Amino acid sequence: MQERISPAKSISGSICLPGDKSISHRYAMIAAIAEGDTRIQNYSTGADCQSTLGALRGLGIGVEQQGTDVAIQGRGLEGLREPVGELDAGNSGSTIRMLAGILAAQPFRSGISGDESLVRRPMERIIRPLTEMGAVIRAREGRYPPLEIQGAKLRAIDYSLPVASAQVKTCVLFAGLFAEGETTVREPVRSRDHTEIALREFGAEVRVERRTIQLRGRPRLAGRELSVPSDLSSAAFFIAASLLAPDSDLVIRGVGLNPTRSTLLDFLVSQGANIRILEIAERQGELVGDIRIRSSRLSGGVIEKETTAALIDEIPVLAVLGAASDKGLTVKDAAELRIKETDRIATVVENLRRMGVAAEEGADGFFVPGGRLRAAKLDSFGDHRIAMAFSVAALCGDGESSIEGAEAAAVSFPEFFRILRQLRSGAG
Ligand code: S3P
Repeated sequence: MQERISPAKSISGSICLPGDKSISHRYAMIAAIAEGDTRIQNYSTGADCQSTLGALRGLGIGVEQQGTDVAIQGRGLEGLREPVGELDAGNSGSTIRMLAGILAAQPFRSGISGDESLVRRPMERIIRPLTEMGAVIRAREGRYPPLEIQGAKLRAIDYSLPVASAQVKTCVLFAGLFAEGETTVREPVRSRDHTEIALREFGAEVRVERRTIQLRGRPRLAGRELSVPSDLSSAAFFIAASLLAPDSDLVIRGVGLNPTRSTLLDFLVSQGANIRILEIAERQGELVGDIRIRSSRLSGGVIEKETTAALIDEIPVLAVLGAASDKGLTVKDAAELRIKETDRIATVVENLRRMGVAAEEGADGFFVPGGRLRAAKLDSFGDHRIAMAFSVAALCGDGESSIEGAEAAAVSFPEFFRILRQLRSGAG
């Protein structure tokens, strides 16, 4: 599907956005192995989180959905059933990597795979710790999906993550739920901590000291009522659009402001963005608030070291902001971008060049000079965040742009184009 986007004069209004993708996956998976019913409100509408629900159904879990309300009938740590066919994670790295931690502890064999993008994404990062814990995992070429996971009675481990990855951390912690004793995960840099927070909410004992997380195995997890904050990574596209369009004033309500995710706001404010937090409160261990964004001229900046990990999903849209900034944007230490849904260094640089920006590609990052964006024929390359980031770029082109493969946005944010049409007013 091709989407045509013309320049916008403003992005204004007051909106709530669909539920956070990371939190939705975690609530659903933990609910399945908790005892009793869990009700999740504002569950993510993205296809990725539907893949998680589909996989849980394949494991014998009762899941009912009414709009964004999801009810999950938890069956306890021993309650999953052997799946009849291969589980389908679709496009979702979170589903395959995090669920693998649970599958590794089952007394049966399960197969799990996904779409053409997912089967090219590396899995040795989860195979290594799960094998150390006692599972037997077969993968294509030893590292790619499909995965064949023969579950086992797992041993608790003390594991130092070789890469900064919240998915891998979660996978090991989920496996650790089934092992006797204490599982320890040590992170090279702090990654998003939704798993630690959610596990505590369901009743597990989790201790965190700096970058070390300890979990006591075999807790009694109890089903409960939960509500998911709006997704800050989805909000990022509207934050960026509001900053860029000249007469914007946008309020986003109920958005997740967990400090391991909100580096985005700090980074933008440090460049001159007019973003204010209007309200902030804690809900089920997560910070949630309302934010107001007004048009701003950004100075540009550098993303490197632990900031790269903290901003990893937002780098495509930050690159677009960089191209419209005074000094441009430099991104370093971002090799992980090459193994996301697409090689995001290549897909960002390609689309920026089509818009007339002389972006320079490096092995583990890129440089985007500040300046102007020209209207162009753009491509999502099948990647949801590329589709949305370059739709934002198109809002400040010098004419109408088109985005090929715009339907990819539905992986995390099916309502994106509808909300964009609702909030924008044209350049006139
Ligand atoms: C996620 C973690 C990040 C992120 C992904 C979602 C999560 O990946 O890029 O979109 O929910 O844990 P890594 O675990 O590879 O850093």
